[in-house]
Amino acid sequence: MPFPLAGCAVLGMITAVPGSCSGPPTSSWDRDHAKHRADRRNPRRRCGGAGPRAAARGRGFRAAATGPWPAWGAADPRQRIGARALRDFSLRFGPIQTGVADRFRDPEVPEVGILSNIRRDGAPIGLADAGQDWHTDMTYTATRGFVNVLHAVEVPMRDGRPLGDTLFANMHAAYDDLPAEVQQRLDGMTATHDFNIFWERMRTRPGSSRPPLTAAQRAARPPAVHPVFLRHPITGRRVLYCNPGYAERINELDAAESARILEFLFAHQLQPKYQHAHRWSVGDVLIWDHLGTLHNAIPDYGPDEHRLMLRCQVMAERIFDPAFQQLWLKAA
Ligand code: SIN
Repeated sequence: MPFPLAGCAVLGMITAVPGSCSGPPTSSWDRDHAKHRADRRNPRRRCGGAGPRAAARGRGFRAAATGPWPAWGAADPRQRIGARALRDFSLRFGPIQTGVADRFRDPEVPEVGILSNIRRDGAPIGLADAGQDWHTDMTYTATRGFVNVLHAVEVPMRDGRPLGDTLFANMHAAYDDLPAEVQQRLDGMTATHDFNIFWERMRTRPGSSRPPLTAAQRAARPPAVHPVFLRHPITGRRVLYCNPGYAERINELDAAESARILEFLFAHQLQPKYQHAHRWSVGDVLIWDHLGTLHNAIPDYGPDEHRLMLRCQVMAERIFDPAFQQLWLKAA
Protein backbone atom coordinates (compact mmCIF):
# COMPACT_ATOMS: atom_id res chain seq x y z
CA MET A 1 0.00 0.00 0.00
CA PRO A 2 1.39 3.46 -0.77
CA PHE A 3 2.27 5.62 2.18
CA PRO A 4 2.60 9.28 1.26
CA LEU A 5 3.93 10.43 4.60
CA ALA A 6 6.85 12.52 3.38
CA GLY A 7 6.97 15.58 5.60
CA CYS A 8 5.35 13.83 8.50
CA ALA A 9 8.12 14.23 10.98
CA VAL A 10 7.43 11.69 13.66
CA LEU A 11 6.30 8.35 12.47
CA GLY A 12 8.72 5.56 12.51
CA MET A 13 9.76 2.32 13.92
CA ILE A 14 12.75 2.00 16.13
CA THR A 15 14.55 -0.90 17.56
CA ALA A 16 15.47 -1.14 21.16
CA VAL A 17 18.94 -2.39 21.61
CA PRO A 18 19.26 -3.45 25.18
CA GLY A 19 22.73 -3.09 26.55
CA SER A 20 24.47 -1.15 29.24
CA CYS A 21 22.09 1.73 28.51
CA SER A 22 19.02 -0.29 29.40
CA GLY A 23 19.73 -1.23 32.99
CA PRO A 24 18.43 -4.22 34.88
CA PRO A 25 14.76 -5.22 34.99
CA THR A 26 13.18 -2.98 37.62
CA SER A 27 9.41 -3.56 37.59
CA SER A 28 7.39 -6.74 37.85
CA TRP A 29 6.63 -6.45 34.15
CA ASP A 30 10.33 -6.14 33.40
CA ARG A 31 11.08 -9.14 35.54
CA ASP A 32 8.33 -11.20 33.86
CA HIS A 33 9.89 -10.49 30.52
CA ALA A 34 13.52 -10.49 31.54
CA LYS A 35 13.94 -13.92 30.01
CA HIS A 36 13.13 -12.42 26.63
CA ARG A 37 15.72 -9.70 26.85
CA ALA A 38 18.16 -9.52 24.03
CA ASP A 39 21.81 -10.28 24.06
CA ARG A 40 23.44 -7.62 26.22
CA ARG A 41 26.61 -7.93 24.21
CA ASN A 42 24.88 -6.54 21.13
CA PRO A 43 27.49 -4.17 19.69
CA ARG A 44 24.90 -1.94 17.99
CA ARG A 45 23.66 -0.34 21.19
CA ARG A 46 23.63 3.42 21.43
CA CYS A 47 22.32 6.04 23.84
CA GLY A 48 20.49 9.17 22.68
CA GLY A 49 20.95 12.92 23.13
CA ALA A 50 18.27 15.52 22.29
CA GLY A 51 16.04 16.17 19.29
CA PRO A 52 13.64 13.88 17.45
CA ARG A 53 16.10 11.36 16.17
CA ALA A 54 18.04 11.31 19.38
CA ALA A 55 14.79 11.14 21.35
CA ALA A 56 13.82 8.22 19.16
CA ARG A 57 17.15 6.61 19.88
CA GLY A 58 16.55 7.12 23.54
CA ARG A 59 18.19 5.38 26.36
CA GLY A 60 19.13 1.95 25.19
CA PHE A 61 17.43 2.33 21.81
CA ARG A 62 19.08 2.13 18.42
CA ALA A 63 17.75 4.35 15.67
CA ALA A 64 18.36 4.63 11.97
CA ALA A 65 16.49 6.47 9.25
CA THR A 66 14.55 4.15 6.96
CA GLY A 67 11.71 4.45 4.47
CA PRO A 68 10.26 7.29 2.45
CA TRP A 69 9.48 9.46 5.48
CA PRO A 70 11.65 10.28 8.46
CA ALA A 71 11.63 7.00 10.30
CA TRP A 72 13.82 5.12 12.63
CA GLY A 73 15.28 1.70 12.76
CA ALA A 74 14.14 -1.77 11.99
CA ALA A 75 12.66 -4.65 13.89
CA ASP A 76 14.77 -7.12 15.78
CA PRO A 77 12.72 -10.05 17.07
CA ARG A 78 15.25 -10.80 19.81
CA GLN A 79 14.59 -7.60 21.64
CA ARG A 80 12.23 -6.81 24.52
CA ILE A 81 11.92 -3.62 26.44
CA GLY A 82 10.74 -3.40 30.01
CA ALA A 83 8.03 -1.05 31.20
CA ARG A 84 10.43 1.34 32.89
CA ALA A 85 12.67 1.62 29.83
CA LEU A 86 9.62 2.22 27.61
CA ARG A 87 8.32 4.91 29.96
CA ASP A 88 11.70 6.62 30.28
CA PHE A 89 12.16 6.60 26.54
CA SER A 90 8.63 7.93 25.91
CA LEU A 91 9.12 10.76 28.40
CA ARG A 92 11.73 12.19 26.05
CA PHE A 93 8.84 13.31 23.83
CA GLY A 94 6.74 14.83 26.63
CA PRO A 95 4.56 13.89 29.59
CA ILE A 96 2.61 10.63 29.41
CA GLN A 97 -1.15 10.46 29.84
CA THR A 98 -2.59 8.08 32.43
CA GLY A 99 -6.20 7.08 31.77
CA VAL A 100 -9.35 7.81 33.73
CA ALA A 101 -11.06 4.62 32.60
CA ASP A 102 -8.08 2.40 31.94
CA ARG A 103 -7.84 -0.53 34.34
CA PHE A 104 -4.88 -2.13 32.63
CA ARG A 105 -1.58 -0.54 33.52
CA ASP A 106 1.75 -1.90 34.63
CA PRO A 107 1.29 -2.07 38.41
CA GLU A 108 4.65 -0.46 39.06
CA VAL A 109 4.86 1.81 36.02
CA PRO A 110 1.35 3.24 35.58
CA GLU A 111 2.40 5.34 32.58
CA VAL A 112 2.59 2.08 30.62
CA GLY A 113 -0.76 0.71 29.45
CA ILE A 114 -1.25 -2.98 28.66
CA LEU A 115 -3.21 -3.84 25.51
CA SER A 116 -3.94 -7.54 25.18
CA ASN A 117 -6.51 -10.28 24.55
CA ILE A 118 -4.66 -12.63 26.92
CA ARG A 119 -6.52 -13.87 29.98
CA ARG A 120 -4.84 -15.32 33.05
CA ASP A 121 -6.91 -17.35 35.52
CA GLY A 122 -9.99 -16.27 33.57
CA ALA A 123 -9.25 -12.54 33.92
CA PRO A 124 -8.01 -10.20 31.17
CA ILE A 125 -4.47 -8.92 31.63
CA GLY A 126 -4.98 -5.96 29.28
CA LEU A 127 -7.47 -3.82 27.38
CA ALA A 128 -8.56 -6.21 24.63
CA ASP A 129 -10.27 -3.80 22.23
CA ALA A 130 -8.01 -0.73 22.35
CA GLY A 131 -8.14 1.44 19.28
CA GLN A 132 -10.20 -0.94 17.14
CA ASP A 133 -11.69 1.69 14.85
CA TRP A 134 -10.40 4.85 13.17
CA HIS A 135 -9.42 7.58 15.61
CA THR A 136 -6.64 9.87 16.82
CA ASP A 137 -5.70 9.57 20.48
CA MET A 138 -6.32 12.46 22.81
CA THR A 139 -8.23 14.77 20.48
CA TYR A 140 -10.73 14.56 23.35
CA THR A 141 -8.42 16.43 25.74
CA ALA A 142 -7.53 20.11 25.76
CA THR A 143 -3.84 19.17 25.53
CA ARG A 144 -3.48 17.22 22.31
CA GLY A 145 -1.70 13.91 21.96
CA PHE A 146 1.77 14.10 20.41
CA VAL A 147 3.04 10.57 19.86
CA ASN A 148 2.17 7.02 20.80
CA VAL A 149 4.93 4.59 21.59
CA LEU A 150 3.81 0.99 21.15
CA HIS A 151 5.98 -2.04 21.86
CA ALA A 152 5.03 -5.48 20.53
CA VAL A 153 5.61 -8.21 23.13
CA GLU A 154 3.41 -10.87 21.50
CA VAL A 155 2.08 -10.79 17.94
CA PRO A 156 -0.63 -13.26 16.81
CA MET A 157 0.38 -15.44 13.85
CA ARG A 158 -1.63 -17.61 11.48
CA ASP A 159 -0.15 -19.67 8.65
CA GLY A 160 3.14 -17.84 9.11
CA ARG A 161 1.58 -14.38 8.74
CA PRO A 162 1.32 -11.84 11.55
CA LEU A 163 -2.17 -10.65 12.44
CA GLY A 164 -3.33 -7.54 14.28
CA ASP A 165 -1.85 -4.90 11.98
CA THR A 166 -2.24 -1.24 12.88
CA LEU A 167 -3.44 0.95 10.02
CA PHE A 168 -2.51 4.62 9.69
CA ALA A 169 -3.97 7.41 7.59
CA ASN A 170 -1.94 10.46 6.58
CA MET A 171 -3.67 13.74 7.46
CA HIS A 172 -1.09 15.96 5.72
CA ALA A 173 -2.06 14.37 2.40
CA ALA A 174 -5.78 14.36 3.26
CA TYR A 175 -5.68 18.11 3.93
CA ASP A 176 -3.66 18.84 0.78
CA ASP A 177 -6.23 16.98 -1.37
CA LEU A 178 -9.31 18.70 0.04
CA PRO A 179 -11.14 20.87 -2.51
CA ALA A 180 -9.98 24.50 -2.16
CA GLU A 181 -13.51 25.66 -1.33
CA VAL A 182 -13.67 23.20 1.59
CA GLN A 183 -10.24 24.35 2.82
CA GLN A 184 -11.41 27.97 2.68
CA ARG A 185 -14.82 27.39 4.18
CA LEU A 186 -13.59 25.40 7.19
CA ASP A 187 -10.53 27.58 7.77
CA GLY A 188 -10.72 28.90 11.34
CA MET A 189 -13.58 26.56 12.33
CA THR A 190 -13.37 24.28 15.34
CA ALA A 191 -14.70 20.84 16.24
CA THR A 192 -15.76 19.41 19.58
CA HIS A 193 -14.27 16.00 20.44
CA ASP A 194 -15.75 13.70 23.08
CA PHE A 195 -14.02 10.65 24.66
CA ASN A 196 -17.41 9.03 25.24
CA ILE A 197 -18.16 8.63 21.51
CA PHE A 198 -15.43 6.06 20.92
CA TRP A 199 -16.03 4.45 24.31
CA GLU A 200 -19.72 3.90 23.54
CA ARG A 201 -18.92 2.63 20.03
CA MET A 202 -16.60 0.01 21.52
CA ARG A 203 -19.29 -0.96 24.03
CA THR A 204 -21.66 -1.91 21.21
CA ARG A 205 -19.17 -4.48 19.86
CA PRO A 206 -20.04 -8.12 20.62
CA GLY A 207 -18.28 -9.35 23.77
CA SER A 208 -17.29 -5.87 24.98
CA SER A 209 -16.48 -5.78 28.67
CA ARG A 210 -16.39 -1.97 28.82
CA PRO A 211 -18.82 -0.62 31.41
CA PRO A 212 -20.45 2.74 30.71
CA LEU A 213 -18.32 5.66 31.85
CA THR A 214 -19.34 6.87 35.29
CA ALA A 215 -20.36 10.48 35.86
CA ALA A 216 -17.01 11.03 37.57
CA GLN A 217 -15.10 9.58 34.60
CA ARG A 218 -17.08 11.75 32.18
CA ALA A 219 -16.43 14.80 34.32
CA ALA A 220 -12.70 14.00 34.31
CA ARG A 221 -12.77 13.88 30.49
CA PRO A 222 -14.97 16.78 29.39
CA PRO A 223 -15.23 17.36 25.61
CA ALA A 224 -12.42 19.42 24.07
CA VAL A 225 -12.39 21.89 21.18
CA HIS A 226 -9.69 21.97 18.48
CA PRO A 227 -9.29 23.61 15.07
CA VAL A 228 -10.55 21.45 12.21
CA PHE A 229 -7.29 22.27 10.43
CA LEU A 230 -4.16 22.40 12.54
CA ARG A 231 -0.74 23.71 11.63
CA HIS A 232 1.59 20.80 12.40
CA PRO A 233 4.22 22.04 14.85
CA ILE A 234 7.06 20.15 13.16
CA THR A 235 6.26 20.22 9.46
CA GLY A 236 4.63 23.67 9.55
CA ARG A 237 1.99 22.31 7.17
CA ARG A 238 -1.75 22.08 7.61
CA VAL A 239 -3.29 18.79 8.67
CA LEU A 240 -6.92 17.68 8.86
CA TYR A 241 -7.31 17.33 12.62
CA CYS A 242 -10.71 15.71 12.88
CA ASN A 243 -11.48 12.02 13.28
CA PRO A 244 -14.53 9.75 13.37
CA GLY A 245 -13.50 8.32 16.75
CA TYR A 246 -14.07 11.47 18.74
CA ALA A 247 -15.25 14.45 16.64
CA GLU A 248 -18.93 15.11 17.24
CA ARG A 249 -19.67 18.61 15.97
CA ILE A 250 -18.26 21.47 13.93
CA ASN A 251 -19.11 24.29 16.25
CA GLU A 252 -19.59 27.08 13.72
CA LEU A 253 -22.16 25.14 11.64
CA ASP A 254 -25.73 24.18 12.44
CA ALA A 255 -26.25 20.56 13.50
CA ALA A 256 -27.38 19.24 10.10
CA GLU A 257 -24.60 20.97 8.17
CA SER A 258 -22.02 19.89 10.75
CA ALA A 259 -23.15 16.26 10.36
CA ARG A 260 -22.97 16.54 6.55
CA ILE A 261 -19.48 18.05 6.54
CA LEU A 262 -18.14 15.60 9.12
CA GLU A 263 -19.43 12.70 7.05
CA PHE A 264 -17.66 14.16 4.01
CA LEU A 265 -14.39 14.69 5.94
CA PHE A 266 -14.43 11.19 7.44
CA ALA A 267 -15.01 9.55 4.03
CA HIS A 268 -12.33 11.73 2.47
CA GLN A 269 -9.64 11.09 5.09
CA LEU A 270 -10.08 7.30 5.10
CA GLN A 271 -9.49 6.74 1.41
CA PRO A 272 -7.11 3.80 0.92
CA LYS A 273 -4.59 6.04 -0.87
CA TYR A 274 -3.80 7.74 2.47
CA GLN A 275 -3.41 4.49 4.38
CA HIS A 276 -0.47 2.43 5.49
CA ALA A 277 -0.57 -0.91 7.36
CA HIS A 278 2.09 -1.62 9.94
CA ARG A 279 2.62 -5.37 10.15
CA TRP A 280 4.02 -6.13 13.59
CA SER A 281 7.03 -8.21 14.56
CA VAL A 282 7.79 -9.13 18.13
CA GLY A 283 10.24 -6.56 19.47
CA ASP A 284 9.00 -3.62 17.37
CA VAL A 285 8.71 -0.23 18.95
CA LEU A 286 6.55 1.99 16.80
CA ILE A 287 6.32 5.71 17.42
CA TRP A 288 3.68 7.59 15.55
CA ASP A 289 2.67 11.18 15.24
CA HIS A 290 -0.87 11.72 16.45
CA LEU A 291 -1.10 15.25 15.13
CA GLY A 292 -0.77 14.15 11.51
CA THR A 293 -2.40 10.71 11.49
CA LEU A 294 -5.40 8.56 12.31
CA HIS A 295 -4.97 4.92 13.27
CA ASN A 296 -7.00 1.74 13.62
CA ALA A 297 -6.00 -1.56 15.30
CA ILE A 298 -7.32 -4.48 13.23
CA PRO A 299 -8.85 -7.30 15.35
CA ASP A 300 -8.44 -10.09 12.79
CA TYR A 301 -7.21 -12.64 15.35
CA GLY A 302 -9.08 -15.02 17.66
CA PRO A 303 -9.09 -15.32 21.45
CA ASP A 304 -6.37 -18.01 21.35
CA GLU A 305 -4.13 -15.96 19.03
CA HIS A 306 -2.41 -13.77 21.55
CA ARG A 307 -1.50 -10.13 21.08
CA LEU A 308 0.30 -8.14 23.78
CA MET A 309 1.40 -4.54 23.41
CA LEU A 310 2.82 -2.02 25.86
CA ARG A 311 1.74 1.57 25.22
CA CYS A 312 2.74 5.05 26.28
CA GLN A 313 0.55 7.96 25.16
CA VAL A 314 2.65 11.13 25.08
CA MET A 315 0.98 14.52 25.29
CA ALA A 316 1.79 17.51 23.07
CA GLU A 317 2.59 19.77 26.00
CA ARG A 318 5.89 21.06 24.72
CA ILE A 319 5.91 20.60 20.96
CA PHE A 320 3.65 23.63 20.30
CA ASP A 321 6.11 25.87 22.18
CA PRO A 322 8.24 27.59 19.48
CA ALA A 323 11.37 27.57 21.69
CA PHE A 324 11.06 23.84 22.21
CA GLN A 325 10.45 23.29 18.49
CA GLN A 326 13.66 25.12 17.64
CA LEU A 327 15.62 23.04 20.11
CA TRP A 328 14.18 19.85 18.71
CA LEU A 329 14.56 20.72 15.05
CA LYS A 330 18.15 21.87 15.53
CA ALA A 331 19.00 18.57 17.13
CA ALA A 332 17.19 16.55 14.45
C1 SIN B 1 -4.09 2.25 19.99
O1 SIN B 1 -5.06 2.73 19.41
O2 SIN B 1 -3.37 2.95 20.70
C2 SIN B 1 -3.79 0.78 19.86
C3 SIN B 1 -3.14 0.44 18.57
C4 SIN B 1 -2.83 -1.02 18.44
O3 SIN B 1 -2.96 -1.77 19.41
O4 SIN B 1 -2.43 -1.43 17.35
